[in-house]
Amino acid sequence: MQREQWGSRTAFVLAAIGSAAGLGNAWRFPYITYKYGGGAFLIPYFVALLTAGLPLLILEFSLGQKHQLSAPGALASIKKKFQPIGWWVTLVAFFIVTYYAGVMGWIWDYIYGSLSVAWGNDAETYFFSKVLQISEGPGVLGGFSVPVLIGVILTWIAIYYILRNGTESVGKVIWVTVSLPVILLLILLVRAVTLPGAIEGINYYLQPDFSKLLDLEVWIAAYSQIFFTLSIGMAIMIAYASYMPKDSDIVNNALITVLANSGVSFLAGFAIFGTLGYMAQTQGVPISDVAASGVGLAFVVYPNAINMLPGGPFVAGFFGVVFFLTLLTLGIDSAFSLVEPNIAAFVDKWGWNKKKTTFWVIVILGLVSLLFATKGGLYWLDIADYYLNNYGLLLGGFMECLVIGWYYKPEKLRNYFNPISDYQLGSWWDVMVKWITPLVLIFLVGRNFINNVFYEPYGGYAAKYLWIGGWGLLIVMAILSFVISKMRGSAGIGVEVDTDSTSL
Ligand code: PFF
Repeated sequence: MQREQWGSRTAFVLAAIGSAAGLGNAWRFPYITYKYGGGAFLIPYFVALLTAGLPLLILEFSLGQKHQLSAPGALASIKKKFQPIGWWVTLVAFFIVTYYAGVMGWIWDYIYGSLSVAWGNDAETYFFSKVLQISEGPGVLGGFSVPVLIGVILTWIAIYYILRNGTESVGKVIWVTVSLPVILLLILLVRAVTLPGAIEGINYYLQPDFSKLLDLEVWIAAYSQIFFTLSIGMAIMIAYASYMPKDSDIVNNALITVLANSGVSFLAGFAIFGTLGYMAQTQGVPISDVAASGVGLAFVVYPNAINMLPGGPFVAGFFGVVFFLTLLTLGIDSAFSLVEPNIAAFVDKWGWNKKKTTFWVIVILGLVSLLFATKGGLYWLDIADYYLNNYGLLLGGFMECLVIGWYYKPEKLRNYFNPISDYQLGSWWDVMVKWITPLVLIFLVGRNFINNVFYEPYGGYAAKYLWIGGWGLLIVMAILSFVISKMRGSAGIGVEVDTDSTSL
């Protein structure tokens, strides 16, 4: 059967950008930059981009495109034994999207809530008590929060409709979900920078503190942010690239993806810190009192900030809709990109009908994600997010580097992508894939591990919850990776077709 393909190169690049540019760009990048040295943070950020992000993105694009298979098949084509690594990265995407859908669920609620500025003067109470209806701890699931449940169902319906015709339907939607958040961010930016105090906010955000460059923490933050933001180490880019013709450009596509992704991050940084500057001035407090990241920024601080905008509730409602629509459109293409490698992996292994597989994968993901629609869901989300990002994704990238860097040999892959690319990469790429990227990754994982096991269990949760939602999850993923690899497929993956040939 002919493998489906993207309608055009642009469709593929937009899909890759859509996956990379997600909630992490809007709510993580600005804060991390501010916290770790402002303008000076851009140095470790770009170093991490060049030494780890771009090389691994090129590696993943090449793996998918060369073998025309998603992660398990592509890795098994190199050596049968590597198939479990492919399932590991696929499972990372599987579990991440179950909670990402939870966050998307809150965003729908906030779009609706914006119409009446439902959070009033107290976004914190609104978020925790009205939307999440949070329970006292992870041990109490407490039934569903109805608003979150409705949001999660809406998210899965949207994802199903977008993915149901594969690259054809994704190729259309992606134009909207990549361009709309940029337009909306520009609207937010213009509003932000024309407010009093905005310039102080932006200064604060970018004021370089070069002394921070001596701090190891800052470098660690830069590398972690790059892995997270580029959606690498979780099978997505391999699956997406497998729908490209074997001879399409790789290096240039990767460069465009990386630059566009960082562009969205910077844009978000100006919009967010401009607004925070205004907020700080209005309240007469220092910026450090209002600066936040993640869930707190998006669902508490920012809603409070738009409430203070001049113009009353109508203006607040308008900017609420714009802000949450930005998050929705930024997040939805990251969300469905996390689903696609799961569909592709099953279709590749068992030759199942893609439409039916899409439906059933989404049903199963939807059922798992119901956990995050319960009143205790936020705690589990927090635990799963930490472990999947700090262990799942980083270990996935590490193993990919080992396979290509040490077994397959990077120059061989470079001999594949250089001739078909506009720009040629030198042997520095080999050094990155063989040494720098894997060393950085294993250092990050090792450090987190020692820290979590001996000094500071994550988030102060009781050990049993960390065992279930964190370590246990990782162990189950590892077992599943081996078990699924062992099962006999019917579509021929697991044939070592790429042991010594470098031909296209
Ligand atoms: N790169 C996207 C983001 O920055 O939001 C998608 C993503 C990456 C989502 C990693 C979740 C995740 F854990």
